[in-house]
This record gives sequence, C-alpha cells and structure tokens, in this order.
Amino acid sequence: METIRWNLKNDYLYNQKAIKGAAELLKSGSVVAFPTETVYGLGADATKEEAVSKIFQAKGRPQDNPLIAHVATKNQLTRIVGNYPPFVDKLMDAFVPGPLTFVLPSNGTCVENVTAGLSTIGVRIPDHPVAQELLSVSDIPIAAPSANISGKPSPTTGHHVWADLQGKIAGLLDAGPTGVGVESTVIDCTHEVPIILRPGGITKEQLETVVGSIIIDPAIAGANERPAAPGMKYKHYSPEVPLWLVKGGHRKMQQVIDEEKNGRQVGVIASTETAQALEADNMISLGWELPEIAAHLYEALRTFKEGDVEIIICEAFPEEGIGQAIMNRLKKAASVYL
Ligand code: TXA
Ligand code: MG
Repeated sequence: METIRWNLKNDYLYNQKAIKGAAELLKSGSVVAFPTETVYGLGADATKEEAVSKIFQAKGRPQDNPLIAHVATKNQLTRIVGNYPPFVDKLMDAFVPGPLTFVLPSNGTCVENVTAGLSTIGVRIPDHPVAQELLSVSDIPIAAPSANISGKPSPTTGHHVWADLQGKIAGLLDAGPTGVGVESTVIDCTHEVPIILRPGGITKEQLETVVGSIIIDPAIAGANERPAAPGMKYKHYSPEVPLWLVKGGHRKMQQVIDEEKNGRQVGVIASTETAQALEADNMISLGWELPEIAAHLYEALRTFKEGDVEIIICEAFPEEGIGQAIMNRLKKAASVYL
C-alpha cells in the first residue's frame, strides 16, 4: 500500500488540510501514525474491530496486549469509561493533557481487540497540538500503540515511523521529533490505591504529590511476578545488536569498553558528563540531565546498526524521576546488566 506522508511545518493551512486528511482516513477504517508528546502512535478507530486489527497486522503485535485509547478531552473520555474513584479527577486536574494513561473500567464503547478482552481500558489525553487537533477533528476515540515494529525501540521521529512502517500503513503525520521521548506512565485506577503498571513521562514523585500513596507493580522491580500490564512481559526496545547495561560510573564503563573491544566495534551510549570522561570510538552522548537523556534515548538505540558495531555498551542511569522510565526500558533492551 502507498503510505501518504504529510510533512507538517509552520504552515497553518497545510497542517489543517493534512490533519483533516488523516482524520478522514481514520474514520474510513484505515491506520495512520501521528505524533504525541511521548512517542509516535499508530492510530485506528477504537470503535471498529476491523480497523483496530490492522494495527496488530502492521506492527506484528501479540493479540493479548491491549491498546491505549486516545481522546482529546475529559468529556470524550467519559464517553468510553465506567465509574472511577475520585482520585482520578485529582490526577486529571494535575496532569491532563499529558503523558499519563489511566486504566479504568471500560463501558464497552471501544471494541474487544482494543482491550484484549479485559473489562478495563487504558485511556490517555495526549499533550501534542497535532494529536489534539486530530482527535478533535475526527471526534472518535483512537486506539494507538507506539508506531514501531513490535520489539523495536519506540519511534520519536517521523523518520523512525517511516523506516518501520512505510508501505504498511495508510498515512503518517510527520511533525518532527516528539518531546518527552519515553512513553506515558500507565496507572491502574481500578483499586483503592493507584498502581503504576509502567513508569513513564509522569514520575512517581509527581503522582505522589497529588494522591499521597501509590504502589508500583512488583513486576516492574524485576520480581518474578506476572506484570499487570500485559505489554510489560514482552521483550522490547531492542536495538539491532546486543546491548550491555553498565552500572558504576565512567571508570567501570571504560573498563568494560576496553575488555570487550578486542578487535570488535563497540558503540557507547552515555550521559554527556560520562561521555566526556570516556575514551571510545563510537559514542553517543544523550545530554546532561535525565529529561534530555530520555528524549534522546530511542534515537540512540536505533543509530547503532548491525554491521557498524557488534555490541552496545550503555550507561545505567539513576532510578529517580524520569530515570525510572529510562531504566525500565534499558533493562528490557539489555541482554547483559553489569
Ligand atoms: O506514550 C504512550 O503511551 C504511547 C503513545 C502513542 O500514546 N503509547 C504506547 O502504547 O506506549 P503501547 O501499546 O506501546 O503501550 C501500552 C501499554 C502496554 O504495556 C499495555 O499492556 C498497557 O499499556 N495497557 C493498555 N491497556 C491496559 C489495560 N486495560 N490494563 C493494563 N495495561 C494496559
Ligand atoms: Mg510500544
């Protein structure tokens, strides 16, 4: 299939026309990739089973992994969910629109292959002007996972989406790099106390300022529990070559780089601070602070290609703030954690 690629720029009329075109494709049951503030999403009408099944086909995604339904406003959100506890309103007042996905009781408006047959549904109001406009113009809930081939790092630019899905989807709204760079925080709001199922763009510390106590799904901490978010059990975010995650600062990093080199091409991913203290040939520095590091992480994972390097050695970052999301993704991407 021919994929229409709209390159959005500072041209209001062109962008409006492109978004309208994308909304029409969605309403006719096709799949379209669009930017959000976290990563690009691969969208389809969440009320049409056949449309949603095209997402799974294009991505090669396991059928038991539910999708997030995206809506523009709280009003649209209430049309697809059942009753929820009062703390949800508080969280919405504080963080919506934004990188936070609420798992709430579904009222059945969204079809079964969105929820993977669960009685709950993940819903999110994204904070990106293009996503907002697309959701308002189409006026339908849009089911959207990250717009990558299943297992690969999520796409943070239109170029990443194009590389993975060109020819497999009807359209792509390309608005350049996303902002946050890691996916939304998924929070289960169907119990008395909210549970973080996936760390993401809104940190545990931020959530705690609003709701007081909050639980982290034990499966995230690496315990042998079955994760409550079905998607968390799969291998994910994998670069083309094995990734080694190394804790212990630049000295330990240097030691591992030197040991592993042995005539091999090594790719290194580190904070700018650590990178400045290292000696290595192929190095990507992600930035000084954790938010910057999050924004550049997936691009870095896609940059080191098979044939260029044989191993990636990546720094382990502090597990605080958005560092929790960064490390959650890196541990999934890594084949070795030293
Ligand atoms: O930032 C994001 O969340 C991006 C953008 C496109 O919005 N989307 C995204 O979707 O990351 P996806 O499909 O890659 O990840 C959705 C996660 C999965 O781990 C899935 O298992 C979980 O949310 N999830 C969805 N619905 C759920 C439900 N009803 N109960 C538990 N977990 C759910
Ligand atoms: Mg994903």
